Amino acid sequence: MSITVVIGSQWGDEGKGKIIDVLSLMADFVVRFHGGNNAGHTVVNQYGKFPLHLIPCGIFAKKVKVCITNGVVLDLEVLVAEIELLKKAGFTLEGRLFISPRCHMILPYHKILDKLYEEAKGKAKTGTTGRGIGHVYADKVSYNGIRLFDLLNTAQFGEKLTIQLNIKNKIIQALGGEPIDKKEVEETFLEYFQKLEPYIKEPYPLLLQAIKENRSILFEGAHGVFLDNDWGTYPFVTASTVLSGGINASSGIPAKEIKEVVGVVKAYTTRVGTGSFPTELFDDDGEALRKEGNEFGTTTGRARRCGWFDAELVRFAVQINGFTKLALTKLDVLDTFSEIKLCTGYELNNKRVNYYDGDAVFLEKIKPVYKTMKGWKRSTRGITDFEKLPLQAKQYIKEVEKQVGAPVAYISTGPAREELIVR
Ligand code: GDP
Ligand code: IMO
Ligand code: MG
Repeated sequence: MSITVVIGSQWGDEGKGKIIDVLSLMADFVVRFHGGNNAGHTVVNQYGKFPLHLIPCGIFAKKVKVCITNGVVLDLEVLVAEIELLKKAGFTLEGRLFISPRCHMILPYHKILDKLYEEAKGKAKTGTTGRGIGHVYADKVSYNGIRLFDLLNTAQFGEKLTIQLNIKNKIIQALGGEPIDKKEVEETFLEYFQKLEPYIKEPYPLLLQAIKENRSILFEGAHGVFLDNDWGTYPFVTASTVLSGGINASSGIPAKEIKEVVGVVKAYTTRVGTGSFPTELFDDDGEALRKEGNEFGTTTGRARRCGWFDAELVRFAVQINGFTKLALTKLDVLDTFSEIKLCTGYELNNKRVNYYDGDAVFLEKIKPVYKTMKGWKRSTRGITDFEKLPLQAKQYIKEVEKQVGAPVAYISTGPAREELIVR
């Protein structure tokens, strides 16, 4: 039996989609357990290039069943569109996709409120993806959410929608927005429901049975550790628990069943949205990382902020998630650099400090300490054998391992499935 968890160890977009696509070839189940369509996971394989926001990236492996468990929040419009896109591309979803009726739904007011709150916060805005994520999770924890379960009963859905619209329309109007019409929402949601009904089935017993039968389950984390609601750079975070420990609450699977936790880590650092970023670059090197790495958001198309690898952050990610292995991605993006810097830790007033010692404001004050390494100035694109990597690339990988305290088991040398070194 094996349960493997894949977690983003920086601020998201580490290349989780690519790693999941590869690992799913050995899995029976692939599970999305938190977040929503704020995630954008890119898969590049023999079938094409797919930016997936909700459907687990294991869908391309024919024998894999994919699950969306209770911790995920669903925008039904996006979900229906993604299902249709995959069907058009020739993938069967019937009998392969299982969606928990416990999932909370993103309603139009969540998206409107996301936008209005961001505008009202002005300079202090989070830089959200505008998908209504913070607002749907806020409703979930404050007992105001509407779940897929409610759509199973039209009258129940209508009643809950009336109550919520009474509250939400007042807030929307107070913030200068237009009120929402109930009938329109009700009709469109019932249409979505008809399309989704064949897939709504609680995955919990399936996963429990899979564990009993020693099957292999892969959990697909979204976002990244530093966007975690508790341990990230609050308030510049997302609303869900990103950490491996969130799996129990978000899927029902006992934590003790998890055997392998893989941290996906980009060979440098990127971030979208606002918030502190100690190793961010504002010079030609930052521009080169953005250009070589094509660092533009999968979900919103925004230019990603770029900077050097931050071992202080990834060390913390290793510790808090209990990473057993790392998948180092986008090594090839560093190919053109003659010097590469790596942040080994932080200092404040000449004293060594840790990431967890302070908040987002503290992170603005710390000074990153760098180690400068020689670049390799040679293409590593598509290399599949560790021994074929340039000496300086091997030294860089070994330095990453030493600094963060976990072994690099996979090295990605390009976006495609086969551009990978397995050590
Ligand atoms: P995710 O959110 O963690 O799944 O990552 P995204 O898909 O948002 O962003 C990662 C981007 O990098 C995608 O465009 C991938 O196709 C691409 N990518 C993944 N691995 C590699 C790699 O090793 N090299 C290069 N050059 N691109 C990669
Ligand atoms: P994947 O899974 C990068 C960021 C947003 C914003 C903050 C809050 O593709 O790695 P939200 O819309 O969640 O309320 O926005 O979180 N964010 C991500 N950044 N990749 C992601 O997902 C992200 N999911 C959320 O940019 O700063
Ligand atoms: Mg992404």
